[in-house]
Amino acid sequence: MTTLTIRRPDDWHVHLRDGAILKAVTPYTSRDFARAIVMPNLVPPVVTVADARCYREHILASVPQGHSFTPLMTLYLTENTDPNDVEAGFRDGEVTAVKLYPAGATTNSQSGVRVIEKVYPVLERMAACGMVLCVHGEVTDPAIDIFDREAVFIERVLEPLRRRMPELRVVMEHVTTRDGVDYVRSAGDSLAATITTHHLIINRNAILAGGIRPHYYCLPVAKREEHRLALRRAATSGDRHFFLGTDSAPHLDPLKECACGCAGIFSSLNTLGCLAHVFEEEGALDRLEAFVSLNGTAFYRLPPNEERVTLQRHEQPVAFPRMIETDDGLITVFDPMFPIHWNVAGEAG
Ligand code: NCD
Ligand code: ZN
Repeated sequence: MTTLTIRRPDDWHVHLRDGAILKAVTPYTSRDFARAIVMPNLVPPVVTVADARCYREHILASVPQGHSFTPLMTLYLTENTDPNDVEAGFRDGEVTAVKLYPAGATTNSQSGVRVIEKVYPVLERMAACGMVLCVHGEVTDPAIDIFDREAVFIERVLEPLRRRMPELRVVMEHVTTRDGVDYVRSAGDSLAATITTHHLIINRNAILAGGIRPHYYCLPVAKREEHRLALRRAATSGDRHFFLGTDSAPHLDPLKECACGCAGIFSSLNTLGCLAHVFEEEGALDRLEAFVSLNGTAFYRLPPNEERVTLQRHEQPVAFPRMIETDDGLITVFDPMFPIHWNVAGEAG
């Protein structure tokens, strides 16, 4: 049997939601990850440090006994965000990052930023204190094709912003294109990117070929094969500018399987098994630890986890559940369309 022992991973981008879904999904994240950057796009969003404090309590109440897990809180940037609140929360260790959603770019982003200049005072303050800005890097201009929105965001928003504030530390969240990967590679040490599990595995055919498959629909939408290959090269290269953000984004099945289904893929449950498969396929198992346990922690200037976990390759595929139950209904688990032979030693699927 093949085994691989690595430092305990962190997830640098996850949606845990609130209420019944929070209760059902948090145990999967807290089982496999020591820390996670928790996205603030609740309804209503987490906009102040007081909101984050309250949300953090809800999260901690859903962590099973025996799991050691630290949620790293984020604030949802709005045009009314108070720079003093952000800085105080960061200095007190209550919030780790701020998330920029262009208004209308994705699920629950209506309160996001319309005019970037309006948030310059917050961003300048963050640049001065070294706080990370997490960016949903897609323009919302309806004239731009949905498959081009990331590349156009880089050109129209991100590059001008970084030129204006070169010290601002930015994570391009869930990068999905070769353009994004190349941009991050060329940008120096104030820019990094998260890559999701699913974007390493599916391209846009998974959503559209042979029937419409809502459980592969997420934002940014999966792109052409050449982009998936570029993401794989980046993730498995060991390059410290790339690290795991699962973007695990659970939605109840009826909200995905309908005429206007929402974006989001739930993958926290089997992510490490899927990633071990991908890295093995790429002959890069020795670089999995950098991607899931080292690169993100270095960018966030946090100490790496001391705890170790062992991943195990089984002869027979691991029986991960196809869906999970919550008090509000079922949530389908990401299906990578290959049998998963890896899991964390000692864990059921
Ligand atoms: C996320 C969600 O459902 O909250 N959806 C998604 O497709 N990734 C929002 C996001 O991260 O864009
Ligand atoms: Zn997300």
